Amino acid sequence: MKKIFKFFFLSNISLSLIVGVFGCARGAQTEPAPSENQGTETTEGTDATTAPAEKIKIKFSHVVAETTPKGQAAKMFEELAEKYTNGKVDVEIFPNTQLYNDDDVLIAIQENNVQIAAPATSKISKLFPEWQVFDLPFAFSDPSQVQSAMEGKVGQQLLGLLEQKNILGLGMWDNGFKQMSSKESQLIKPEDFKGQSFRVMSSKLLEAQFKAVDANPTPMPFSEVYSALEQGVINGQENTLSNIYSKKFHEVQKYMTLSDHGYLGYAVITNKEFWNGLPDDVRQALEKAMNETTQWVRDNAERLNAEELEKIKAENPKLEIHELTVEEKKAWMDKMDVTYDLLREDLKTSGSTIGDQLIDAIIELRGE
Ligand code: SIN
Repeated sequence: MKKIFKFFFLSNISLSLIVGVFGCARGAQTEPAPSENQGTETTEGTDATTAPAEKIKIKFSHVVAETTPKGQAAKMFEELAEKYTNGKVDVEIFPNTQLYNDDDVLIAIQENNVQIAAPATSKISKLFPEWQVFDLPFAFSDPSQVQSAMEGKVGQQLLGLLEQKNILGLGMWDNGFKQMSSKESQLIKPEDFKGQSFRVMSSKLLEAQFKAVDANPTPMPFSEVYSALEQGVINGQENTLSNIYSKKFHEVQKYMTLSDHGYLGYAVITNKEFWNGLPDDVRQALEKAMNETTQWVRDNAERLNAEELEKIKAENPKLEIHELTVEEKKAWMDKMDVTYDLLREDLKTSGSTIGDQLIDAIIELRGE
């Protein structure tokens, strides 16, 4: 991850130097800083007519609960960012879709209405279809493989694409493996999916994954999933244990399969002009805060998800939980593997020049 930061830092340094001399962030929202936060560059000790230093305001919008890996990481970033900048920035977190839903936040970032967001990689595929590679079913069998993809060339290439749309990738965060659930029936054999409707994030690859097992994918924002499950608009869904538990999906489902069939991770993004316009010392302090937070979420996301499984079991003992055996997993993989070729075709059609390269890199990581 440090390498990624170095990459972005170096590629942005010349613009930063030009903008940095003006000493303020273009597009940043500011508010007066309390006098105890004023450092050597501020107005302490000057006369009463001198304007107070202004805090740089950073709004961080996300859609999940504060207890989840992303919710906790956002909070940690807020604390570290304020500490390392000596109070020059004021980070305000808006969790639980308080500000923007999944798709709107991408526009809000481009327009600098929020300064940081961490959408699921799947959702970024609306802007750049290459991001669907992280949705490939059974692409990863272990979080360390995902982390190699995030921190290596795959992550760098994907984050690099964002700059075309005035977005800068600050890093990638983990949540964990997705599990399947349904109100209708156990999901053990591929045939069990037939005719059932499942909520998916906005990603064509995820739609293809469910079509491959004759199910009906229904794209829907995260904030609408609970009521759609409760009212029977959809039969089931896929998500990580921390998202399932925090949004109480387990209360409106009868069956859950621990399938680890896909991975949910995040791209932490900001508005490129905003970030490049920050004073150098502030940007470096924020990068330090981001690096430490990323390491924390890498080290803790798996544990947090495992803890939520125990709570799900305790709160809904009637939920029938099945863990896929190796053979059962193989049967799902055989059906869903078609999505790899579909994605190759889709990326070619959309004019991507790196599609094959990315898919090959993912296949290599899973050891084939
Ligand atoms: C998230 O973890 O940000 C939400 C994922 C989803 O929409 O299912």
